[in-house]
Amino acid sequence: MQFNGKKGLILGVANDHSIAWAIAKQIMDAGGQCGFTHLPDRPDDERQRNRRRVSQLTDKYENAKFLVPLDAQDDGNIRTVFETAAEEFGKIDFLLHSIAFADRNDLARDTVYTSREGFKLAMDVSVYTLIACTAAAKEIMNPGGSIATMTYFGGEKCVPGYNVMGICKAALDATVRYLAYDMGPQGVRVNALSAGPVRTLAGRAAGVEEMLTLYEHMAPLGRNVSHEEVGRTGAFLLSDNSEGISGEILHVDGGYHAMGSPGRLLEKLKS
Ligand SMILES: NC(=O)c1ccc[n+]([C@@H]2O[C@H](COP(=O)([O-])OP(=O)(O)OC[C@H]3O[C@@H](n4cnc5c(N)ncnc54)[C@H](O)[C@@H]3O)[C@@H](O)[C@H]2O)c1
Repeated sequence: MQFNGKKGLILGVANDHSIAWAIAKQIMDAGGQCGFTHLPDRPDDERQRNRRRVSQLTDKYENAKFLVPLDAQDDGNIRTVFETAAEEFGKIDFLLHSIAFADRNDLARDTVYTSREGFKLAMDVSVYTLIACTAAAKEIMNPGGSIATMTYFGGEKCVPGYNVMGICKAALDATVRYLAYDMGPQGVRVNALSAGPVRTLAGRAAGVEEMLTLYEHMAPLGRNVSHEEVGRTGAFLLSDNSEGISGEILHVDGGYHAMGSPGRLLEKLKS
């Protein structure tokens, strides 16, 4: 994979376990230059913990060109991030949107009891922000550019426990298809990577631990996927190597999504 001369934005690194970081490392190791964002710190947090957690990672990389705060629910913040990218890079070639959030109380509730406010919050952060960021990127993206977001199988089928986030991912998948259509005429692709469970902050909140066991027994490959595997496929989607692919939901889950029965797990239960 070659990223020499390519520049872009990575949204959604919280710490070294973040999927966005796994993807960014692949890109920077292949010569790409990245601008990063972090969740804004509270004004009374003198230690700037959110920023520090990300800068500890990016400071070590020459190809990490800037780090600015982003609350993706704030249109002014989004504008500033893309203005910074335009000042630093001129045009960009890739954009990674790796952002999701739902209130823990709503994630823990049966879907039937999802609150109106919780639903709006989860949809705004986890879905609308892809639209807002794509609109901002449209102005500064080179033809041949690539936009990718992170989704999960719980948007295609009912995965008990994933609850309101499953509804968000279904909406996100549909958003990818409509944005792919809109961005096509300027030669920009929009895709989603559907990862199997990996241990991250957001993953823990969405019940990753239980899913890891399930995947190990049910996925055709009989194992879980690694951060590195997800990182490489994410970088692939953002690179020229995937130039003919748009509107796609690409699964990196050991094949779990292809199963229509518990497979070897059933044999295990029988025995
Ligand atoms: N971990 C998994 O098993 C898994 C599987 C499939 C898909 N995903 C998806 O991958 C993406 C990244 O999650 P992750 O697992 O790397 O966890 P993570 O917690 O490292 O990343 C989530 C990111 O979203 C950011 N975020 C939340 N609200 C925000 C806001 N208002 N403004 C800006 N940023 C905000 C957080 O700061 C964080 O960087 C999410 O969309 C998640 O649903 C995760």
